[in-house]
This record gives sequence, C-alpha cells and structure tokens, in this order.
Amino acid sequence: MGTGIAQLAAAAQMAVVMADSDGAALTRGLQSISSSLAKFVKKGVISEDEANATLARVSTTTSLADMSSADVVIEAVSERENVKKGIFSELDRLLKPSAILASNTSSISITRLAASTQRPQQVIGMHFMNPPPLMKLVEIVRGLATADEVFEQTKELAERFGKTVVSSRDFPGFVVNRILMPMINEAFYALLEGVSSAEEIDTAMKLGTNQPMGPLALADFIGLDTCLSIMGVLHAGLGDAKYRPCPLLAQYVDAGWLGRKSGRGVYHYLSKM
Ligand code: CAA
Repeated sequence: MGTGIAQLAAAAQMAVVMADSDGAALTRGLQSISSSLAKFVKKGVISEDEANATLARVSTTTSLADMSSADVVIEAVSERENVKKGIFSELDRLLKPSAILASNTSSISITRLAASTQRPQQVIGMHFMNPPPLMKLVEIVRGLATADEVFEQTKELAERFGKTVVSSRDFPGFVVNRILMPMINEAFYALLEGVSSAEEIDTAMKLGTNQPMGPLALADFIGLDTCLSIMGVLHAGLGDAKYRPCPLLAQYVDAGWLGRKSGRGVYHYLSKM
C-alpha cells in the first residue's frame, strides 16, 4: 500500500520520501512502482518520460529523521496499534509543527493514534484502497480533535491524487471495512458450512452481484491476516456477535495461509505478490 501511495504522490508532481526500516523492502517498493508505471505506459495512459520523471521524484530512506521537512506524512505500516502509535509519537517529535500526520489504517481509531502525539488536531485518517494506483476512492477519517482545515487540506491532497473522497466518522472499520469485511467473513462461514465450494462462492458473487473479484479471492488479495485483524477490531469495537471472526479464517491465518503474499490462502498462487 505504501508504495502505491508514494506512486500517486509522485505522479501528482510531488517530491516523495519513502521510509522503511528494511532497506530490501524499499528496493522492492521501487520495483513495484516501476512495474506499475510500466503498465500505464503500455496502456498509453502516460509516456515513458512521464514514468521516468515520476520514479525520479521518489527517494528512499531507512531513517524517519529524513522526513523532518515533510508537509504531510502518510503512514502505512502494519495494522498493529502499538507499532503505529510508536511511529506517530516519533514523527511528532521530528516533524515541523505545521505538518499533517495521516494514517492509511483500515480500521484503527484515529482518535487513539492522535492521542499519542502533541498535535491531535493535525492527525487524520487517509484510507486508500488496494491497489492505490487503480482504485478511485480515498476514505478520509476525522479523529475527535481533527481540525476542519486539516480535513480540507487532506481532501485537496486526495483529489490532487485523482481520487474521489468520502468522509467518515471515527468508528470501527469506518465505511468500507464496516461493510466489506462482514461480507468476506460471511463468505468464510459459507465455505466452512459447506454451502458451496470456494470457486462457486466467488463465481456467485462475481456474476451475481457484478463484483470484479469474489469475496474469497478478494480476501486473498487483501491478506487474510489483515481481514482477521479488521474483523477483530469490528468485534471488539462494536461489541455485536455478528462481527465474530469466522473460525476458518482464523485457522487459515494460524496456518500461515495469508493469501497472495504468502503464496497460499483460500487459493494457491504460483508467485508471491
Ligand atoms: N498499477 C497499474 N496497473 C495495474 C496494476 C497496478 N498496480 N494492477 C493491475 N493493473 C492493470 C493491469 O495491467 C490490467 O490492465 P489491462 O486491463 O489493460 O490489461 C488491469 O489493471 C486489470 O488487471 P488484471 O488483468 O491483472 O486483473 P483484474 O482484471 O482482476 O483487475 C483489479 C485487478 C483492478 C485489482 C480488480 O480485480 C479489482 O478491482 N478488484 C477489486 C479490488 C478491491 O476491491 N480493492 C479494495 C480492497 S479493500 C481495501 O483495499 C481496503 C482495506 O482496508 C482492506
């Protein structure tokens, strides 16, 4: 997700610094941007020169200190609240006072992330959909203390990336995952109960409801660990048994069947994503 977001910003003529503690992940990130840009060149959406110029606007670092002059930081680390809070409080110390701190979290409370900083009015959720270069939506989530002007600036930024914005209050799962994840979870229950095979469940939803991917293939695409963690957030935060994570989904994650990224999820994949 982080590389897709960096690509969007660079394509919108902005200088981007992509940070990761793992240098190899940064190399893979640049390769992923390069291959996505190559697809747009092949389709005639952009020229080769534009692709090269976009890539040249992305630099990388393994040190958050190199972000100190940034106007906006969009955090896209793993969906673990303590990890995000640690990064937010470090960025809060390093960044200039006017900088906006946005999180691409898919379900964690923006209000709680904001409370780990001294600038809660400048903390906001900017939730991109996977793959960011193709998906047209950005969900903007206001924490309890988010200032109106920060919301407006973030909305303008998402629109500069070519996205349509919906705004959400800071409730578990926001809008997209509040609705999408229970559907995916229900598909796992249908599989567990033997209602139909994985292929048929996906075909039914693809052809019966015009979705580009069936829910189980989409779960593999998103990552089963991410789906399970979001269901956990919905279950804990909303307290209703209808959000109980499906035991089959939990078992797949226990087995390390995380979807495309691990080569196996509901389906088998020849190469890891
Ligand atoms: N960059 C540029 N182009 C890309 C690309 C990328 N990263 N990935 C795919 N493409 C292009 C391909 O080159 C291909 O182009 P052509 O049509 O010209 O051949 C086109 O996109 C379609 O790709 P594929 O043929 O490989 O596969 P597809 O037809 O299945 O499309 C998809 C892929 C766009 C991902 C489509 O299946 C889709 O829209 N799936 C649903 C995705 C979705 O719902 N995402 C949101 C998940 S929820 C989320 O992200 C939030 C969360 O918090 C969990």
